Amino acid sequence: MPSPVIKVEKVSKVFDRRIILDNIDMEINAGEIFGIIGASGSGKTTLLNIIIGFIKPETGDVMFRTEHLLDHKESHSFRSVFKYPDELKRIIGMAAQTPSFYTTLSVRENLDYFGTLYGLTKDTLKANTNTLINLMDLQGSEGRPGKNLSGGMQRRLDMACSLIHDPKILILDEPTADLDPLLRNHIWRLVRKINKRGTTIILASHHLSELELLCSRIAILKEGKVLAVGTPNEIKERFSKNEEIHLESFPGNYDKIADIKDKDVLKEIAKIEDKGTKLVIYTSKPEIVLNEIIKKLDQHKETIVDLKVTKPTLDEIFIMITESEKDKQEEQDEEKEEIKKKQSRK
Ligand SMILES: Nc1ncnc2c1ncn2[C@@H]1O[C@H](COP(=O)(O)OP(=O)(O)OP(=O)(O)O)[C@@H](O)[C@H]1O
Ligand SMILES: [Mg+2]
Repeated sequence: MPSPVIKVEKVSKVFDRRIILDNIDMEINAGEIFGIIGASGSGKTTLLNIIIGFIKPETGDVMFRTEHLLDHKESHSFRSVFKYPDELKRIIGMAAQTPSFYTTLSVRENLDYFGTLYGLTKDTLKANTNTLINLMDLQGSEGRPGKNLSGGMQRRLDMACSLIHDPKILILDEPTADLDPLLRNHIWRLVRKINKRGTTIILASHHLSELELLCSRIAILKEGKVLAVGTPNEIKERFSKNEEIHLESFPGNYDKIADIKDKDVLKEIAKIEDKGTKLVIYTSKPEIVLNEIIKKLDQHKETIVDLKVTKPTLDEIFIMITESEKDKQEEQDEEKEEIKKKQSRK
């Protein structure tokens, strides 16, 4: 049974009379890596700042589970993040979109500084610092000032600072922004490691295809609302019934292969794209379509170079969902415009 540690309840936030978050509900379960995705400006950072109690919403509340707290033994009881900031601080850590470590202090000094902010004892601080230097691959750089670290190391130091008090929940806002794919992979590996040690992770990111492999569940934010929440597979199943057949063959006369006449096969094909170097066929019945393709390959003496059946990536789903929402909005705007015109003619 999923066991929530954070409950976002009917949260709305307005900035400059613009609704940024509109009645958001979501639950984050113990042990999850929960991803929040959405276009730039969709309110991811605002939502994370509300979850951690930094920003107060106009309406709604965020509740956190307190059973981990030593002085609160009652299990499965929840408290508002806005009413109990000190208790929340003990169980949650956040690495913000812009780093918060001190550039003139060394790696170890930064960890010391953040540790004292949380009131850790000398022994705990020393033990946690050593664990984090190893966990975040910062060995050998303990004495270097933050400003002399590479981009990837700075990101790892920032995460280490947010973990110094060994929080139960870690919030990461765009932990891989501006990093190249290799460094991003390094960060994702560390996120997995932190999660395996028992920390629930909530993160916002633009790198959807990478989140797909990392997150247990994902929420898609769009124009202030949660468009969908679920496992990456659930979201894919819900928004796209099709799978993709990717075919590369030699000599590659794809127009001939794509020229399918059999009506029973044709009705199972949603779309065929000749991409020049390969043919992509979108279908909910790949087994039926593949049969026909194999026949066509044989008929036209084509040799298979590569053939695979895949589900669309989360990137593709995200573009599809957000574009269809945009289309809907544009249709509604046009309808409103039409009504206005009719009224003014009367
Ligand atoms: N303090 C503020 N005052 C006024 N408007 C704000 C404030 N903070 C955020 N906004 C606006 O709220 C919207 C959501 O911003 P937010 O930073 O939460 O988006 P985001 O999804 O994190 O974007 P990004 O992917 O670029 O980080 C934006 O239009 C932003 O300009
Ligand atoms: Mg942001």
